Amino acid sequence: MPDVLILNQPDTEYFPNLLKGDIHLWTISLDTSEDQIERLRSVLSPAEKKKASYYKFEPIQHHYIVTQAVLRMLLSAYLDIGPADIKMGAHKKGKPFLVNDASIFYNISNSHDLCVYAFSRDGEVGVDIEKIRDMPDIDQLIEKNLTIRERKYFQKDTDIKLTRFFQFWTFKESYLKAIGEGMRLTPENLEFSLENGTIRLRFVKYGFDAADWQFKGFTREGNYTGALAYTGKETVIREMSIALKR
Ligand SMILES: CC(C)(COP(=O)(O)OP(=O)(O)OC[C@H]1O[C@@H](n2cnc3c(N)ncnc32)[C@H](O)[C@@H]1OP(=O)(O)O)[C@@H](O)C(=O)NCCC(=O)NCCS
Repeated sequence: MPDVLILNQPDTEYFPNLLKGDIHLWTISLDTSEDQIERLRSVLSPAEKKKASYYKFEPIQHHYIVTQAVLRMLLSAYLDIGPADIKMGAHKKGKPFLVNDASIFYNISNSHDLCVYAFSRDGEVGVDIEKIRDMPDIDQLIEKNLTIRERKYFQKDTDIKLTRFFQFWTFKESYLKAIGEGMRLTPENLEFSLENGTIRLRFVKYGFDAADWQFKGFTREGNYTGALAYTGKETVIREMSIALKR
């Protein structure tokens, strides 16, 4: 990982092994310089470089280059092979997977200036992060995306309403991303409860067993909220950050 610094690690030269029972949750800032972008672009595959060029709005193009290049670098560190040798495919509903090693599962999410990556060897993972931001149509979003029972957790105060909405949204989306369904399973098909500040999956239709899934909510500086969905009971979640070398 010559181009990145691993933070929250006692020894930055040390790249952690991904063991069964572990989930690694990495966070990176997408705020980058032109030099860094050019270095990272060189890590991408020809298809990824082409995809990057389709994003005409520069900040979006840069975010794609950073997220994809860092994903390659992380996977290459786990597998101990060069970034160019990493091969990724996509399931039929679009969820990406690692071709080189079917025992590693991953998912990524980005919002504004942050990207998060989740890796596991125990099964599918889904992650979602959102910057909590003002939404003029918050009431319609709540109505459209939350069930009647979920809506009762919402109060009139707009700040709490926004925060809570994004929490519920990221929990729902982390699950939809874990199972690879994305938009195809609409939000009323899964319901969460809020008990003593903890959000739990109450039910899901479509034959998946809610009891098998665990969730971890997290926050990041800058008013970000996120959620991780995973299977496995005794999982150790290691939260780490990476920064690009200047
Ligand atoms: C694909 C989808 C999951 C991406 O969500 P998003 O918030 O726009 O973007 P994120 O940054 O969180 O995730 C994007 C990444 O997820 C991954 N992804 C793509 N399709 C996926 C799928 N079907 N399942 C899981 N992960 C997927 C990719 O790595 C993608 O990165 P890329 O766009 O650079 O290729 C989204 O289109 C979707 O279907 N969302 C569900 C929306 C919804 O109904 N939410 C209800 C919440 S209340």
